[in-house]
Amino acid sequence: MQIEILNSAKDVINKNLKGKNIVVIDVLRATSVMVTAFKNGAQSIFPFENIDDTKQAYYLNNNGLLAGERKGLKIEGFHFGNSPLDFTPEKIDGKNIFMTTSNGTRAIKNAKGYDNLYIASYLNLSAVANILLKDEKDTVILCAGTDDEFSLDDALCAGMIVNKISEQIKIQTNDATLSLQILANLSNNIKTTLENSKHYSYLKSIGYENDLEYCIQKDICNVVPFYKNGVIKYI
Ligand code: MLT
Repeated sequence: MQIEILNSAKDVINKNLKGKNIVVIDVLRATSVMVTAFKNGAQSIFPFENIDDTKQAYYLNNNGLLAGERKGLKIEGFHFGNSPLDFTPEKIDGKNIFMTTSNGTRAIKNAKGYDNLYIASYLNLSAVANILLKDEKDTVILCAGTDDEFSLDDALCAGMIVNKISEQIKIQTNDATLSLQILANLSNNIKTTLENSKHYSYLKSIGYENDLEYCIQKDICNVVPFYKNGVIKYI
């Protein structure tokens, strides 16, 4: 099994993914929101790149809620921002969520031509690794990054997923992926590793410390969201 890690949402554009699985990671916070929403009973998530398309699809659905952020802050008129802790069972059970975020939903939309697209975060990383092991296909792990740049929070999670797989089977990687595996092995504490990183520090500066504490928890659930035909459901 060959595994490659990509550093940002733009890196997957024009990438040939034929016959491969792809895993999208945006731990702070879009993919942590998706995992949490399904854990708490959401029915489906419809990801969009821009705000107008998100609203248009929402208006056509009579069981929907709008979620998303720009610059980390809730979009005006939306029911939710991008704080996973807001996606409680009381608010979202049985609902369809129409979602747009700066990097995470864009990364999902940028990938084309793959066999399966899975959604990962620290919250469900072993469950995702197990599905990849079961599928046994060559895999691209797409870190959404921040504003088309490498983001340590996503990259560390990607390294951890690759390590989970390489504990079980022999894999082929490149040096970039290997360096994230080494980082993941050396990092005993996610918070200590991330606390000076750019997006982590930004979210802290605008008051989302509780989200950060939540999103860096490993393996709190087995939900594996997957994207197919424009909609995210889960296994
Ligand atoms: C994104 O998709 O860019 C992020 O989830 C931003 C955020 O942390 O809200």
